[in-house]
Amino acid sequence: MTDVASVLFSADEIRGRVNDVARAITRDYEGRSPILVGVLKGSSLFLSDLMRAIELPVRIDFMSISSFGGAAEKSGRVRIVKDMDQDIGGQDVIMVEDIVDTGLTASYLLSTLQSRSPRSLEVCALLDKSVRRIAPLPIKYRGFDCPDRFVVGYGLDLQEMFRNIPDILAVEDLEALAEDPSLLSTFAQEASA
Ligand code: IMP
Ligand code: MG
Repeated sequence: MTDVASVLFSADEIRGRVNDVARAITRDYEGRSPILVGVLKGSSLFLSDLMRAIELPVRIDFMSISSFGGAAEKSGRVRIVKDMDQDIGGQDVIMVEDIVDTGLTASYLLSTLQSRSPRSLEVCALLDKSVRRIAPLPIKYRGFDCPDRFVVGYGLDLQEMFRNIPDILAVEDLEALAEDPSLLSTFAQEASA
C-alpha cells in the first residue's frame, strides 16, 4: 500500500451500489426497453456491470466526446467524436456517466440527446461531485456522492492510466502520481492479488 492514493469506494461497495441502481432502473422501466448510452471511456466498466444487473431487455450505445482545452480550464464546450448508432426518437434513454463534476459535459450531452426527441431521458452517474456543480443537472440515478477529490479506478483515469483498478481511489498526491504512474501500479497489483 502506498500513500499516493487511498481507497474511497471499494470494489465490494461499488458492486453493492451498482446493484441498487440496477434494481431502481428495473423497477422504474418495467415493461419497457431503455437504451443505455455510455459516455466513453470512463463509464465503460460501470455500464458493463450495470447492464448485467438490470433485469430488462436493454440496449446499449456509446458516445465519445472531447472537451476543448485542458481538464483544468473547462469551457463546457465539447465536441462529439463518436455519436450513437441508434436513433433515439421515441425511445427511453438513460445516459450513463462515470462522474459528474461541474456538470458542463453532461448538460451539453443531455441537451444534444434531448433535441433528438426521446420519449424519456434520464441521467445515471456512478459518482456525483455535487459540491463542484456549475451547471444544474438532474441526476435521477446516482451511485455515490463524491467528495471534492481527484479519483481514479473503476473506469476513471489520470492521463489514461488506472482505469483498470477495481476500487475507486482518491489521489492524495496528484503531481507525484502524474509524474510516476508506477507509484500506483504497485498498488493495483496488490489490490488484485
Ligand atoms: P464535468 O464536465 O466537469 O462534469 O466533467 C466531467 C468529466 O471530467 C468526467 O466525465 C471525467 O472524465 C472528468 N473528471 C472529473 N473529475 C474527475 C476525477 O476525479 N477523476 C477522473 N476524471 C474526472
Ligand atoms: Mg467521462
